[in-house]
Amino acid sequence: MSVDVQHGQQGINGIWSSRWIFILAATGSAVGLGNLWKFPYVAGEHGGGAFVLVYVVCIALIGIPILLAEVMLGRRGRMSPINSMLYLAKESNVSRWWSCIGYTGVLAGLLTLSFYSVVAGWSLHYVVLSLTNKLYQISATDSKLVFNALLKDPWQLIFWHTVFMLLTISVVGAGVIKGLGRAISIMMPLLFILLFVLLGYSTFVGDFEAGWRFLFSFDTSKLTWASILDALGHAFFTLSVGMGVMIAYGAYMPEKKASLGRTVLAVTVLDTLIALMVGLAIFSIVFANPSIKLSSGPGLLFVSLPVAFGNMVMGQLFAVIFFLLVAIAALSSAISLIEPAVAWLVEYKGYKRYRLVFVLGFIIWCIGLGSVFSFNYWSELKLFGKTFFESLSFLTANILLPVGGLLTALFVGWRMDRDSVIDEVGDIQRGPYRWWFRVLRFVSPVLLMIVFLTSLW
Ligand code: TRP
Repeated sequence: MSVDVQHGQQGINGIWSSRWIFILAATGSAVGLGNLWKFPYVAGEHGGGAFVLVYVVCIALIGIPILLAEVMLGRRGRMSPINSMLYLAKESNVSRWWSCIGYTGVLAGLLTLSFYSVVAGWSLHYVVLSLTNKLYQISATDSKLVFNALLKDPWQLIFWHTVFMLLTISVVGAGVIKGLGRAISIMMPLLFILLFVLLGYSTFVGDFEAGWRFLFSFDTSKLTWASILDALGHAFFTLSVGMGVMIAYGAYMPEKKASLGRTVLAVTVLDTLIALMVGLAIFSIVFANPSIKLSSGPGLLFVSLPVAFGNMVMGQLFAVIFFLLVAIAALSSAISLIEPAVAWLVEYKGYKRYRLVFVLGFIIWCIGLGSVFSFNYWSELKLFGKTFFESLSFLTANILLPVGGLLTALFVGWRMDRDSVIDEVGDIQRGPYRWWFRVLRFVSPVLLMIVFLTSLW
């Protein structure tokens, strides 16, 4: 491995064309299956409002401070997470071992993408199902059968997993400016439009009031220790922190003087608003149909929602819109999961980006086959009571992510050269950054340790 990081490597992967593109790209990374698929059913399982409140607190106390830290590391390092960390460790005169933040991030990103792509593939399958009217007036029993038939058919799963991986690598292969930047500037406006259309529709046909009541009235009796832990884990996942993804994206930020705090707040507010809006839309639609049992777990999106759509005015059209929205959100997240690894290999080996992306994509695709088979051939094969898919999701979200986030908070809060921090964000003795720095040093690491240890235990 090359020991000395050359400054000449800075910026070889490209720069976003504006700060606005950075905000969109970071929001695109943050808004994904976590918001559209996971948040509604986890909130459903934990009783709604009370969970939402804890989740928002976790976003404020852990999500925002670490997100800001990551973007700052990227903007200062100006390279892939691994090389940025090597450079910053040297600048701060501390051990090179801090670059493990970059290495675990790259690993976690690749592993996450392997199963993320499989679930994203489901949404593509559902776009086709609703386009071909297969979900029209579907009953709850049939909807379950349709979903189970998909999971039991490895060839279908492999097909959609392949399509999604091809989409991902074709965007990333085209580079930061022509690939990610351009795709983001098309996908994000589309995502916002689809979202508003869907929300409008849900206020018309759904039981908006019931949805609102469910999501925002809180019943503290449902607030268990488990819901707090889930809220904390989800806050990480939904903001895309803990994997160095935001270091990679921060490294492509253009002008140096833009306020990091405001940028990071914009991303967080957008991500949280979108999660809440989608949650509201989904619950209004589901509640409009009293026969649907709620908290139906991971199947909420692929089992309950098709039943609701199938029996509504213009439901088929809006089902297409909805699943397209899920697919777009997943794609704008998937590209961020592979980017740190690609950026690093481009800097380190100087290989052509599209070739690297192809090879990496193939490796991820192969690992993804494990997740595909865990729903059929290998459904009985369990490690500590978890299938391959569940183990990977646990390893990444519950272990690698909190560790990455903890190390990031510790590095920036305790080890990084203080003058560099001040150079990037401004005064940390007064004003809002003072609070950021204190929370990052004292609050976030402690809370994180608690989650990490409890989730292991
Ligand atoms: N935040 C995305 C979601 O909500 C998933 C994601 C993309 C992610 N990149 C990440 C999670 C990096 C953790 C780290 O679906």
